[in-house]
Amino acid sequence: MKKFFKWLGISVGGLLGLIVIVFFILALKGNAGLSRSYDIPDEKIAIPTDTESIARGEHWVKAECIGCHGDDLSGGPFVEFPFGYVDARNLTPGKGGAGTEFKDQDWVRAIRHGVNPEGHSLLVMASTAFWYFSDEDLGEIIAYLKSLPAVDKETREPQFNLLGKALVGAGVLDKGVLIAKYIDHESRPVFPSASVSMDYGNYLVNVSGCVDCHGPTLSGGKSSDPTAKPAPNLTPGGELSIWKDADFIKAIRTGVTPTGHPLDPAQMPWEHYKNFSDDELKAIFLYLQFLPKLETIVP
Ligand code: HEC
Ligand code: HEC
Repeated sequence: MKKFFKWLGISVGGLLGLIVIVFFILALKGNAGLSRSYDIPDEKIAIPTDTESIARGEHWVKAECIGCHGDDLSGGPFVEFPFGYVDARNLTPGKGGAGTEFKDQDWVRAIRHGVNPEGHSLLVMASTAFWYFSDEDLGEIIAYLKSLPAVDKETREPQFNLLGKALVGAGVLDKGVLIAKYIDHESRPVFPSASVSMDYGNYLVNVSGCVDCHGPTLSGGKSSDPTAKPAPNLTPGGELSIWKDADFIKAIRTGVTPTGHPLDPAQMPWEHYKNFSDDELKAIFLYLQFLPKLETIVP
């Protein structure tokens, strides 16, 4: 009997020791992922200074950035977990803001490549979608950011404790978190010109990251946030098959679908997409209507 307990003790102790070792290996691996360096060469992007271009930049920023960075772009707490936090950063030229220190290339690397001036991946930032922005549109966005009024606010560098790092190392926190890892830093997509066309609708869907929540084929999915609600099928296999242009525009502008279903703005960012023009929304809807009819995927 004594021998049995001795062996039991050794086995349990050994198992616990093994778990601790695996935990530390995962935390080390996570740390390596978080501090991986990305070398992104400079890109020739013209940053305009005329008021018309700056106004177009503001239009993009209202539709694509304020949801996370706030109406005045001064950032604030974004993800708070027991194992770490990530703030959306202050983008203005105020104290603590990126605008005080960012050179043009720092803006390009952050927005298009998801890489910060130190060469590390930004966390949670939506660059996998913004990678699709044309040079011209990106230039206008940066022009507007540089024209922002200063807001003094310190936002925190992201932080993960040992458990957070182990979750990164185990791949639980990976896609949607380690942004730069999921961006093709070498090639560029082609850009359609702005019009009410399927191609331009496709462009708008890409830069808006609709696939991040509605799934890679837009037939249903869920954002990487574990508490997120499933996002419905946007192909003609879903409810949109019976919508008209005007229904789609109304749903995005008011957050109410033709069946009277309210869209939760914390789950579906319609409060920001409502800043798209009628023509932009028509292009998006045109693109969605001609997607292959797919059965709904319920994540
Ligand atoms: C899904 C939420 C989200 C959206 C949408 C988003 N951002 Fe971010 N952004 C973040 C978070 C979170 C960070 C901080 C990442 C970090 O510190 O690792 C960040 C960081 C940045 C940075 C780096 C700032 C710094 O000081 O390092 C820039 C620049 C930036 N965002 C610009 C933009 C622009 C421009 C848009 C719109 C075109 C945008 N972001 C939309 C979440 C978002
Ligand atoms: C952050 C995640 C997220 C993103 C990004 C997102 N959606 Fe959604 N969307 C949702 C969720 C979740 C719902 C369901 C909301 C509800 O029922 O309250 C939804 C609902 C919708 C609906 C209503 C469909 C129906 O059958 O009722 C439409 C239309 C829609 N989204 C279009 C889009 C388009 C177009 C884009 C990109 C421009 C987009 N969404 C981007 C999460 C998202």
